[in-house]
Amino acid sequence: MAEATLYFPADFLWGTATSSHQVEGQNQNNDWWAWEAQEGKILEGHRSGRACDWWDNAEADHDRAAQMGTNAHRLSLEWSRIEPEPSVFSGEALARYREILQAMHQRGIEPIVTLHHFTNPLWLTEKGDFDSDIVVDYFRRYTAKVVSTLGDLVDKWVTINEPMIYVLKRYLENAFPPPAARGWSAAGRALQHLLRCHAAAYHTIKDVYPAAQVGVAKNMAVLEARPGGNTLDKWWAGQLSFLFNDWWMLALRDGYLRWPLAGGHMQNLARTSDFVGINYYARYYTRFLRTYEQEWPAGATVGDGNYGEVYPYGLYRVIRHALRYEQPIYITENGVPDMEDKLRPAFLLAHLRELWRTVNFNWPVMGYFHWSLVDNFEWEHGWTQRFGLIAMNPETGERRLRRSGQLYSEICNSGSISSDMVARYAPQLMSNLFPGSTGDLVPAGTPISSAS
Ligand code: FCB
Repeated sequence: MAEATLYFPADFLWGTATSSHQVEGQNQNNDWWAWEAQEGKILEGHRSGRACDWWDNAEADHDRAAQMGTNAHRLSLEWSRIEPEPSVFSGEALARYREILQAMHQRGIEPIVTLHHFTNPLWLTEKGDFDSDIVVDYFRRYTAKVVSTLGDLVDKWVTINEPMIYVLKRYLENAFPPPAARGWSAAGRALQHLLRCHAAAYHTIKDVYPAAQVGVAKNMAVLEARPGGNTLDKWWAGQLSFLFNDWWMLALRDGYLRWPLAGGHMQNLARTSDFVGINYYARYYTRFLRTYEQEWPAGATVGDGNYGEVYPYGLYRVIRHALRYEQPIYITENGVPDMEDKLRPAFLLAHLRELWRTVNFNWPVMGYFHWSLVDNFEWEHGWTQRFGLIAMNPETGERRLRRSGQLYSEICNSGSISSDMVARYAPQLMSNLFPGSTGDLVPAGTPISSAS
């Protein structure tokens, strides 16, 4: 059979993504550690514990990432390590981050650095964190310290990870460590403070490194009316999708906070984004006046947990939607919980096929960061959900490259996906991804079915 190969640009960033609390271990000084210690908060009573041991040995996994052929990695800094007490910065922690970032460069791995990925120093939480004005100044000073000590090693920054998910889970769903106050008005306040923190960090970085690229990692989901839904369901889905996907990005573009989450103009916020970072996972359905459903239509493909419907065409759709921001686009996260790795090879190929289409329409998609390099502590789900290209036993730290990891390695090394890879890793997708090989044309967007 003739082989068809879909190439990506030579300078495309092929990466993986992690966050500090999920991989470093022993982050005892933040709000998550305290929350984990309380009974009933984390599934099966799991704790982050030593996590993936990155604080002591991130290098071992960066060796693996380099062997796999990746050339970039998105990681986050742990504020509670860098500033263990208000206005007291730890030279030791900053030196360790320098070492980690340098080790990445030495291995040909470009770091993208996130400043806030779901965790807060305990002392900040005690002061009310995002419920209070004070957070903005603290975040500015934390950023300034980080930029002055690590900025020469970082060209791309993410200020805040998934602000809408963060607010939803923490202020409205009780799934994350408790804020000073819960509910809609506290959530609105937190959103405004997050925006102000973002703007403060953006300007702080750009003042020192005008050429640095700064943005957010914005979770973007396909939110639709449930199948068979009526006009009200459809209208509602449109409203939710606007609030969840667009509200924040529009605010960064023109500085204007749109009703109903807030209203009015925020100073220094307009034009505080140099790229669109998209975290894309799934499609969700909704119905009138509900948020999102946890049920999927018959035949939907889903991963291990309730993380939504696996919907590769959605990646194409969210990218197309993000073109309106007229900026470079990075897929800052994309992955699936799949302990047995039954789905992940097909997941990767189907999503990257969609990504390839966008790149080859000359849309400005510059890189892809798979969540995640290695199994890690998955927040309120503990260790029950495994997202790694590398499997890890949290008891022993023992690692094993999954088949999907081998596949990703082939993809990164060749900068392409091919019909040969599909034949070896996910033959059930052949007629969908490479229709010419069977003459069997299946419309783009047909859901993938799980591997046999
Ligand atoms: C995203 C988070 C990331 C990880 C993945 C599975 O929402 O940013 O930390 O938990 O989901």
